[in-house]
Parts: sequence; C-alpha cells; structure tokens
Amino acid sequence: MIREIRKYGDPVLAQTAEPVTEFDDKLKKLVNDMFETMYAAPGVGLAAPQVGISKRLFVMDCSTKEGVQERVALINPEIIVTEGRQLGDEGCLSFPGIYFQVERAQRVVARARNVKGEWFEIDTMDLPARCILHENDHLNGIVFINHLSALKRDLVKRKIRKRIKAGDW
Ligand code: NI
Repeated sequence: MIREIRKYGDPVLAQTAEPVTEFDDKLKKLVNDMFETMYAAPGVGLAAPQVGISKRLFVMDCSTKEGVQERVALINPEIIVTEGRQLGDEGCLSFPGIYFQVERAQRVVARARNVKGEWFEIDTMDLPARCILHENDHLNGIVFINHLSALKRDLVKRKIRKRIKAGDW
C-alpha cells in the first residue's frame, strides 16, 4: 500500500522518532509499504516520519543497476563510524523539486536491526552513505535544509511558502 508522503511543514518531520520495540507483522507491513511508496515516488530512501510514523526506521535502495533491487531496511539504526567528506546534490521526497549540494561523510558504518529484530552492520561509501546520513537525520527531526547556511535556508523556506500559497506543495 502506497502511503501519503508528508511534506516539509508537517510537524511529524520535526519530531524525534521513538525506537521500534515490536518486531511483528505490523512492522513488516510498514516496511513493505515504505518500499512501495519509495519506489513509486520514485526515491532512493524514505524514513518512517515521512509517512507520518514517528518511529526509528528507514528504507533505502541505492542500486545503480537497472532492474536490480538492493532493498535495505534499517530499524533503530546507529551510526558507528563516519569518515571523509563528499559534496553532492541531494533531494528529499518531503521537498519535491528542491535539490542542492550537501556535504556529508564519504564513508559510513552503521548498525541496525532488520525486520526480524536481528542486528546487522552496513559499511558503505558515496551515495548509500549519503542516503543513510540523510535518512538517519529524519529520525532526529532534522531535514536536509538544516545543513544549509541560514541565508540559503531562508531562501528555500521563502520559495516553499510561495509554493504553499500557490497550492503547489
Ligand atoms: Ni528526506
């Protein structure tokens, strides 16, 4: 089931999400729905708060091979190591049509639980590393415009206010 993606301005995106405690069928359904919603959008990552669920989990698929899925769901994730720097374009499904450069770590090691509640580790670079950091921010009520300078952030916010007025948000 495709769920509604919450856009910037929705208070759920500014909340600190709660840890997942039940690894049950309801969680499996949520994860499946989040993948479906992310692929339909389309996007490479989606955090639970973006579908209105203030829980600590996100899904991602940064596969660059056509027709090949690389589904990863990170539940209660923890960033263990960050290393190096990368500068690249970023977007967010909660900010349709808005893209800009964000500096992130180049390598990320994270641990998380899977849908069964088992811990696993992911050690990755470049796009998936950027994706993990972006989605993990969502679990802490942080969105990517928080990484802009105050001046640039105000410009983006002004643009969004205009689009809200025009009914284009
Ligand atoms: Ni996002």
